[in-house]
Amino acid sequence: MQSLSVFVSRTIPSIGTELLKQHGFQVKIWPEDRPMTQEELIQAAKQADILLSLGENKIDPYFLQECKHLKMISQFAVGYDNINIPEATRLGIPVGNTPGVLADATADIAFGLMIAVSRKFFFNHLKIMNGGWGAFMPTANLGQELYGKTLGIFGLGSIGSVMAQRCQGAYNMNIIYYNRTRNVQAESDFNARRVEFDELLALSDVLSVHSVLSNETRGKFNKEAFTKMKPGSIFINTSRGGVHIEEDLIWALENKVIWGAGLDVTNPEPMHKENRLLFMENACVLPHIGSATVEARDGMSRLAAENIIYYIKEGNIPHCVNPAVLKSK
Ligand code: DGY
Repeated sequence: MQSLSVFVSRTIPSIGTELLKQHGFQVKIWPEDRPMTQEELIQAAKQADILLSLGENKIDPYFLQECKHLKMISQFAVGYDNINIPEATRLGIPVGNTPGVLADATADIAFGLMIAVSRKFFFNHLKIMNGGWGAFMPTANLGQELYGKTLGIFGLGSIGSVMAQRCQGAYNMNIIYYNRTRNVQAESDFNARRVEFDELLALSDVLSVHSVLSNETRGKFNKEAFTKMKPGSIFINTSRGGVHIEEDLIWALENKVIWGAGLDVTNPEPMHKENRLLFMENACVLPHIGSATVEARDGMSRLAAENIIYYIKEGNIPHCVNPAVLKSK
């Protein structure tokens, strides 16, 4: 059998590409240090049997129509909001993703942002850099402590569960969550209590977003939602920037509607270097580094490759986001 070709739209840790080569795949990697344009991606994908994509690739109905010959798309990410899944499903293209392996790394970023916001790390760092260290003042730079507070999780899956574990272990926090379906495991592991969305807003001292970006969650954290949060609360988002409305968040922070915010994701990305959030006392922003550890990225690379290998060899994708396609084959 002629070997199949995989096009990889960015340099990824070599563990995955080496695995593909060992299993007889021809691997071609986009060599440049910038995201591909959609036209570049289409031209490259047309020459390949399989696409190994990243979240930055726009895989919309137009792309899918142009590349409907693809045997599968293997996404190097747990999130896949860049891919039009209904259209991929309609065209019979299975899509894989890489959940689980980045849960620890991403939860660490949410946990770190929570502490950084509660003690104003980034603002104080900026103050030093601007020569503003100043004299010790008993009433200045006051943060707030986290012990015994309530953590509200919006979207309690694997990353949210690690965040809950960290917060309970470190600060004995109470855990509440909002999900479409119950997370029975979390309820038994952390005594987590499922609540309605408005209750989540009203009761959380720290509200951490770990959901996917979908029609249901897009813009969910808007002026109305921030208004319903506690005045002393901290908002954390490490999932997708589209889940909150940035202007509304800035309004909530400037008007002390909430106490602070920690973001690893923004809308758009990258954030402009003059963005007001970067200079605010009560905000900490990171450049989407949730999964950026050696361990997580190696794991993602391996899973993205395994999804391809299992599909081609056995017709099964260990982590498939549209399994209906597999059943129909
Ligand atoms: C993911 O896996 O979805 C992360 O956001 C990294 O892109």
